[in-house]
Amino acid sequence: MRSGPDSVAIAVVTIFPQLVNAVSEVGVTGRAVDNSVLKLSCVNPRDHTSDPNRRVDDRPYGGGPGMVMQAPPLAGAIAEAEKVNGQVTGAAPLVIYLSPQGEKLDHSLVLELSGYSNLVLVAGRYEGVDERVIEALVDREVSIGDYVLSGGELAAMVVIDAVARQLPGVLGHGDSAAQDSFAGQGVLDCPHYTRPETYQDMSVPEVLTSGDHQAIARWRRQQALGRTWQRRRELLEEGGLSKEDKRLLQQYLDAQN
Ligand SMILES: C[S@@+](CC[C@H](N)C(=O)[O-])C[C@H]1O[C@@H](n2cnc3c(N)ncnc32)[C@H](O)[C@@H]1O
Repeated sequence: MRSGPDSVAIAVVTIFPQLVNAVSEVGVTGRAVDNSVLKLSCVNPRDHTSDPNRRVDDRPYGGGPGMVMQAPPLAGAIAEAEKVNGQVTGAAPLVIYLSPQGEKLDHSLVLELSGYSNLVLVAGRYEGVDERVIEALVDREVSIGDYVLSGGELAAMVVIDAVARQLPGVLGHGDSAAQDSFAGQGVLDCPHYTRPETYQDMSVPEVLTSGDHQAIARWRRQQALGRTWQRRRELLEEGGLSKEDKRLLQQYLDAQN
């Protein structure tokens, strides 16, 4: 069960605010913004440079390919982001630099981040940001996976979406986030079906149309356990199973043979 703030202010430091602002226009995150559960703002480092062409990058010391984001415009933008969020929440900020070198985002890190009401997300571009920004101003580095994106904006949007889903009232149904994969005691979600009842000769599992709520809950739990066993066995090993879970899983595995 999550315990934490009822809303979050997230300020993203980015040279592409139009990209990040898209999350406030659609779906679950859009609703969260409309309901003021998510207060999203962007601060552009280009507004914090003295360069007449608003450049925020320069060549790397020591040579080599690509450009590096400069410290002064980033520092100015981070300070403004902290100020904007501080006015909304009064809480101290957690400054995160999105980086392929950071700790990998998973469900437990999402839950941890959803405990903060003031997040500043720094999206890098080019070859990355001047290391001294990370040393002086960043609390944590977060990666969304072992691959390299062209910029931190998409990674910031992933964090925003995942954190917003955990806030009270953001999802239509109160329990939805708790039933998602990884949330329900570390297991993957069960399969879902909707109308039509038959599609290309495939029927919805009978139990789902039985009206027997206990049987449906048991079937869903069994499917979730079975899927997790087949796709992500290590999650079950980490979580430890109750006697009833073990029985349901065995039944599932027997039915496969
Ligand atoms: C082209 S990348 C720079 C990669 C950097 N040269 C490296 O190899 O560590 C530009 C920016 O994209 C973002 N980024 C790229 N991959 C990411 C990932 N997997 N997770 C989070 N942010 C990422 C970071 O903000 C980074 O500064």
